[in-house]
Amino acid sequence: MDLGITGKTALICASSRGLGRGCAMALAKEGARVIINGRDADRLIQTAAEIRAATGAEVIAIAADVSTKEGRNALLTAAGEVDILVNNNGGPPPADFRELTHERLIAGLEANMLTPIALVQAVIDGMVERHFGRILNITSASVKMPLSGLDLSSGARIGLTGFLAGVARQVAHANVTINNLLPGSIDTDRIRSLDARLAAESGATPQAMRDKREAAIPARRVGTAEEFGSACAFLCSAQAGYITGQSLLIDGGAYPGVL
Ligand SMILES: NC(=O)c1ccc[n+]([C@@H]2O[C@H](COP(=O)([O-])OP(=O)(O)OC[C@H]3O[C@@H](n4cnc5c(N)ncnc54)[C@H](OP(=O)(O)O)[C@@H]3O)[C@@H](O)[C@H]2O)c1
Repeated sequence: MDLGITGKTALICASSRGLGRGCAMALAKEGARVIINGRDADRLIQTAAEIRAATGAEVIAIAADVSTKEGRNALLTAAGEVDILVNNNGGPPPADFRELTHERLIAGLEANMLTPIALVQAVIDGMVERHFGRILNITSASVKMPLSGLDLSSGARIGLTGFLAGVARQVAHANVTINNLLPGSIDTDRIRSLDARLAAESGATPQAMRDKREAAIPARRVGTAEEFGSACAFLCSAQAGYITGQSLLIDGGAYPGVL
């Protein structure tokens, strides 16, 4: 299926590795011009070369901290008119909620709620004027099924989801959609480091933690960044214009609810 996004400009935040990289690769395969981002410049340049080689797409790499105003300005300046915005960022490290200081709470809100809102504010009027816009927020399955130790992550992402639920209805008339992708367990550095941390705490091996994780998922495996990117590309497609304000779990059936 031709997704109808050839030549569109896609800004994918935090995309040098993991889920963001999967989204950037999938959008580039569909012919979008992609702006990718991460703080480690060497890693980012390597990813840009890989995406170019795999897709032939125009790839612009901006090394910047997306949680800062300067970083966001650098991304927006490089992108110009943004047709597709994929909001993504690092997640807060796991912590007992009692240990979260005011500063850590504010940093979590900045990274996973206020940063995506600022980027939406920056790009949305242009999308409305041009009568095309696709905004996706990479949040987490923990929005629907809280995980202890990730309370700040869940709270900030639920705040973002609630904020943008209202915004989505204000721009739907202009073919601008806002949706959320909720990863369960997708095979990335983040999941590998969480498993290593759990292993260190419990005295088990990281592989034992991976086995335990996979046994609890109905699909009996973790997902891939490619699968995640494919879902992203479809929700950014011309055909997805009637899907807005939704949260799509990508979790191999791990969430046990009916709805
Ligand atoms: N993987 C999963 O199964 C899963 C499940 C639930 C939720 N999530 C959430 O989904 C998001 C992406 O996860 P992931 O698994 O893809 O993580 P990852 O493999 O650790 O990749 C994170 C990416 O974000 C970049 N990044 C981090 N902080 C940044 C910042 N301040 N500015 C710019 N770039 C930044 C990293 O590059 P640099 O380090 O070079 O900056 C890297 O490219 C996270 O918020 C995570 O909590 C993931």
